[in-house]
Amino acid sequence: MKLSDRRVQIGILAGLLVFGGAVAYTGGWFSPPPGPPEILVVNVPELSPLAVRGNAAYDVSCAVCHGTNAAGTDRGPPLVNDIYNPGHHSDESFYRAVRQGVPQHHWTFGNMPFRPDVTDGELIAIVRYVRELQQANGIETLPHEM
Ligand code: HEC
Repeated sequence: MKLSDRRVQIGILAGLLVFGGAVAYTGGWFSPPPGPPEILVVNVPELSPLAVRGNAAYDVSCAVCHGTNAAGTDRGPPLVNDIYNPGHHSDESFYRAVRQGVPQHHWTFGNMPFRPDVTDGELIAIVRYVRELQQANGIETLPHEM
């Protein structure tokens, strides 16, 4: 192989790397994790009876981290957030979070410990509560894209 061929090969390789990097970058693969969001002002709608029960259980078991009205704190993210729309975080994922805990992945608050003290009935009510808050704040089901 001639030296010039080698150069061409290296040139092509470097070009591919730069191009691939640019695609990855603009594709958001390397975007930094979102920091703690601003604490939100959440619109509280008139809640259904189930959501009222959920609110009570939520205030006992979740509010310490996810905040009053699910607006977030410095210990946990707001659940009134587009990320937690039903298309991306189904009711099932709420059950899983509470039953098994959540390793840190979307934010930088650390892990969520599981909550064995929450009963199944409370859990269903809590999810209803969070969904009603989300809906009142314009969070709609979006297709899952991640
Ligand atoms: C000790 C703090 C703490 C408590 C208490 C807590 N959470 Fe969390 N929770 C977190 C943190 C932190 C995350 C974010 C993890 C990440 O994505 O980085 C989280 C994430 C979640 C998620 C998203 C799960 C996923 O798949 O990404 C749901 C749903 C959730 N919490 C629901 C609840 C509910 C419901 C309660 C009350 C029963 C609760 N949490 C109590 C800290 C907490």
